[in-house]
Amino acid sequence: THVSYLCDLNRHLVVCLWMALCCLWGGLSIPDPKYRETLMEMEASMQTGGQVVLSEKEKLLNSRLLQMKQEEVMRKDFPPAVHFFKARDLIEESPLFSLLQKVPKGAALHVHDFSMTDVKWLVKNVTYRPHLYMCSTDAQSIRFMFCSQMPKPLPRCSPWVLLEKLRAMTVNVTELDDRIMKNLTLFTELDPDVVYPTQDVVWERFEKAFRAVSDLVSYAPVFRDYYYQGLSELYADNVMYLELRTLLSEMYELDGRTHDLTWTLKTYQDVTRQFTADFPDFFGARIIFTIHRGVNSTVMDQVVKTAMKLKRDFPDFMAGFDLVGREDRGRPLWYFRNELSLPSDKGLPLPFYFHAGETSMSGSEVDQNLLDALLFNTSRIGHGFALLRHPVAKEFSRKRGVALEICPISNQVLKLVDDLRNHPGAVLMAEDHPLVISSDDPAMFGASGLSYDFYQAFVGFGGLRSNLGTLKALAINSIKYCSLPAQQQEKALAMWQKRWDKFISENTQ
Ligand SMILES: *[C@@H]1O[C@H](CO)[C@@H](O)[C@H](O)[C@H]1NC(C)=O
Ligand SMILES: *[C@@H]1O[C@H](CO)[C@@H](O)[C@H](O)[C@H]1NC(C)=O
Ligand SMILES: *[C@@H]1O[C@H](CO)[C@@H](O)[C@H](O)[C@H]1NC(C)=O
Ligand SMILES: *[C@@H]1O[C@H](CO)[C@@H](O)[C@H](O)[C@H]1NC(C)=O
Ligand SMILES: *[C@@H]1O[C@H](CO)[C@@H](O)[C@H](O)[C@H]1NC(C)=O
Ligand SMILES: [Zn+2]
Repeated sequence: THVSYLCDLNRHLVVCLWMALCCLWGGLSIPDPKYRETLMEMEASMQTGGQVVLSEKEKLLNSRLLQMKQEEVMRKDFPPAVHFFKARDLIEESPLFSLLQKVPKGAALHVHDFSMTDVKWLVKNVTYRPHLYMCSTDAQSIRFMFCSQMPKPLPRCSPWVLLEKLRAMTVNVTELDDRIMKNLTLFTELDPDVVYPTQDVVWERFEKAFRAVSDLVSYAPVFRDYYYQGLSELYADNVMYLELRTLLSEMYELDGRTHDLTWTLKTYQDVTRQFTADFPDFFGARIIFTIHRGVNSTVMDQVVKTAMKLKRDFPDFMAGFDLVGREDRGRPLWYFRNELSLPSDKGLPLPFYFHAGETSMSGSEVDQNLLDALLFNTSRIGHGFALLRHPVAKEFSRKRGVALEICPISNQVLKLVDDLRNHPGAVLMAEDHPLVISSDDPAMFGASGLSYDFYQAFVGFGGLRSNLGTLKALAINSIKYCSLPAQQQEKALAMWQKRWDKFISENTQ
């Protein structure tokens, strides 16, 4: 007897397998091991990187890599199963992690402005600069301002104190610095599940920390250094290109003068040029202009028009537009359908890079964001955590090649998933859905660069079957799905390939 199997192998290919099941086994009903092998190979070839052909040297490194992963899985505290705040030290002592740091990872396509740079640097460098005032809010957070004189008091905040003076009067400065640092990040050495029992609590702290960092970073001289330092951290982690989501906040000077958002955009461009001049093997950066999704239609109308103008004036530096803030609390994309149609109506193209599906509220109005983002022709999807619950949106995103920007650690810290082996990325990587790995708000989560998130994707939801081909495909994806025009992508890819070859030869001695 013959059994026919119709396997809808990915996209277009339809593979039919005809196999004789029983006769080969002398009447026993054990399934044919050869057939079993064929199916296993088929599955392996469907995953992200499943089609990558490894060179001899790459195969050598791959066996080492898989050996290391095997050892990782045997660990008593398997890091992807543990909250990142407790797992970070475990990850750092892993030899596999050290190797992942060296991997040329391509581009970081989902990172936010005020959480791209290490908070230790903020405390040790920025808060030690002169003219910095600090106050403590009623809600146990802190605010800052650089000012040539005592600033006007803020509502619901203690009187301002000059930090320099406060430090001079403080017995234990280490402890003070520690308290300041804790206000600038979500990372904690305490039990994260006790400190952040719910999504509401963790998001509230997140927005407070973001606020405090923005006070420091919106001071024009700090802003330049902060961004340069952030690029250095990515570069040190072997990332070569960035698409940064930024609010383009007004920047201020010591005397209270402010600069508008065009100044901020230009400064990003200047510092990027400076950085690529200093490090020619860093490819560069572009920005995605963002607005908080809590605004009303009147404000959105203005902002979309501004975004269209910026895109026209800075076509090579500005990638597009996005909405930020907690999806579950903000307005859904459909609420802004009139404003978001403006670019298309007016024939002034403005590519979208919408956050969507960063929610566990299945079936809610906000849960429609995924489909709506696609209907508005989004170029990529930020997170797309809920994609598996939307088969139509999923098919749409695959067919149109709209990549998901998966940020594993962010999803865990913001309480969408506990054990990263259960992240939806496991399914999406198993079937080579268009996706890239990114870090969202590394400084808020106590991470930096992309390596920690690559670790979670590779060891956590990549499981034992993801391999060197997977890493290669993820890096290539990050260039393939970035906003650069085709010609520039080719250049970036050539630059990446050179770094990759060097990485392979240096690690197969
Ligand atoms: C702070 O950083 C700037 C630029 O990154 C550097 O020039 C300066 O020396 C640093 N200052 C301190 C106190 O570390
Ligand atoms: C200062 O505080 C830090 C952190 O809380 C602590 O480790 C250190 O022992 C303290 N130093 C002194 C001299 O009390
Ligand atoms: C933030 O700073 C304030 C004032 O120093 C302090 O009371 C509070 O404990 C800090 N918050 C955190 C989360 O450490
Ligand atoms: C929209 O928000 C802005 C800024 O918060 C406010 O000034 C304006 O009155 C609001 N407009 C409407 C129609 O609610
Ligand atoms: C999205 O793209 C389709 C096909 O190119 C086009 O017809 C439609 O007008 C676009 N919609 C928006 C909102 O840009
Ligand atoms: Zn984000």
